[in-house]
Amino acid sequence: MDVLRQILLVLHIVGIAALLGGVLTQMSALKTGDVRIVPAMTHGALTMLVTGLALVGVVQAGLDREVDNAKIGTKLVVLLAILVLVWGNRTADRVSPRILGAIGLLTIANIAIAVMWT
Ligand code: HEM
Repeated sequence: MDVLRQILLVLHIVGIAALLGGVLTQMSALKTGDVRIVPAMTHGALTMLVTGLALVGVVQAGLDREVDNAKIGTKLVVLLAILVLVWGNRTADRVSPRILGAIGLLTIANIAIAVMWT
C-alpha cells in the first residue's frame, strides 16, 4: 500500500510540474498579450484532482493514520477554482494576464498549503 501511495505522490508532483510549468511557458507571452491556456495546464490540473483523490483513498485505507480533512478540503476548493479557470478558458485564443496570474498564484498557494499546513 505504501508503494502505491508513493507512486501516486510522484504522479501528484508530476501534475504540479505540468500545471505550473504550463503557466511558466506563457510568461513570455505576457509581453505580446498572446497568453493562452496550454494543454499542460488542463492535464496538470486534472492529474492533481485524480491523484489527490486517489491519495486520500490510499492514505485512509492504510489504517495507521488519517488525512487532515480541513487541509485536503481547502486544497480541493483551491484546485476546483484552478480547474474552472483552465477548463473554462482552454479553447480561448487568448486570455487576460490576470487569469494566468490567478492560476499561478492559486497553484503556489496549494503548494504552500500542502507543505506548511501541519
Ligand atoms: C494544485 C493543487 C495541489 C497541489 C499543488 C498539491 C500539492 C501537494 C504536495 C506538494 C504534496 C506533498 C506534501 C504533503 O504530503 O502534504 C501533496 C500531498 C497530498 N495531496 Fe495534494 N496538492 C494539490 C491538490 C490536491 C487535491 C485536490 C487533493 C485531494 C482532493 C490532494 C490530496 C493530497 C494528499 C492526500 C496528499 C498526501 C498527504 C499525506 O500523505 O498525508 N491534493 N499535495
